[in-house]
Amino acid sequence: MSRPARVGDPVLLISPDRKTRLVYLEEGKQVQTHHGVIPHDALLGAPLGRVVHTHKGIPYLALEPSTADLLQYLKRRTQIVFPKDAAYIVMRLNLYAGRRVIEAGTGSGGLTLAFARAVYPDGHVYTYEARPEHQALARKNLATLDVNACITWHVRDIQEGFEERDVDAVFLDVRTPWEYLAQVRDALTMGGHFGALVPTTNQVAQVVDALYKMGFVMVTVEELLLRAYKPVPERLRPEDRMVAHTGYLIFARWVGEEGTPWSGPHLRPVAARKAAERS
Ligand SMILES: C[S@@+](CC[C@H](N)C(=O)[O-])C[C@H]1O[C@@H](n2cnc3c(N)ncnc32)[C@H](O)[C@@H]1O
Repeated sequence: MSRPARVGDPVLLISPDRKTRLVYLEEGKQVQTHHGVIPHDALLGAPLGRVVHTHKGIPYLALEPSTADLLQYLKRRTQIVFPKDAAYIVMRLNLYAGRRVIEAGTGSGGLTLAFARAVYPDGHVYTYEARPEHQALARKNLATLDVNACITWHVRDIQEGFEERDVDAVFLDVRTPWEYLAQVRDALTMGGHFGALVPTTNQVAQVVDALYKMGFVMVTVEELLLRAYKPVPERLRPEDRMVAHTGYLIFARWVGEEGTPWSGPHLRPVAARKAAERS
């Protein structure tokens, strides 16, 4: 971002001992650090990507946060989607500028942010959340970001259905996605993308079964493992610990037809014969 930083912009501040924090700029405010104070006014009005000094003269890096940074620093009442999953979901739902996407539940707004940044400036995210206190926090989390203009916030249990029609994609991050596939189907355009994230294989099986029963096609189940490395050139090796499990990702497409031959498990000929012999 080469434009000057303005009120409401998020800034990533990194101390010389590599501690990071995220602040949202406000006129007249100060950041209190263990090395002294940085006035927000010292950050406003000039592009980020530079060094600023505390009142004690200690240098801090002031950077524009990436979307992954913003996700990690979101205030949360719920589990939020991890950046590795969010990025892949954006690609699998084929989201880009101008697309229209529904998501539920809003939670803390993590995926809402990732989607809004993908479809900005002329696409739209319609986000549904049953619990008003969750959505209130998500709205606050994203309030000052440019992308806020392309988000519509609904406080509603999705059991009651979605207001929008002919959307390009629907993503569900709720406990029982299989219960809402009729509502998803009503909202999706022909050929539209469906996705869901669930933490257990039991839930995966229920979602996949329901997708086949309703005639969704191109059903896939995937999981992403991300391994970080210690960036030390002479001793380059993985970090000792990793987040081993976040969630399973299920994707499918809707072509407007129950009982289509493209739906259901696709077994290779030998596996299909064995399955037929067993039944
Ligand atoms: C795991 S959180 C979603 C996190 C979100 N994707 C994020 O990245 O911040 C699940 C949310 O779904 C909401 N939820 C669960 N069932 C729902 C339903 N039937 N309708 C609307 N929201 C629902 C919950 O209240 C909760 O806030």
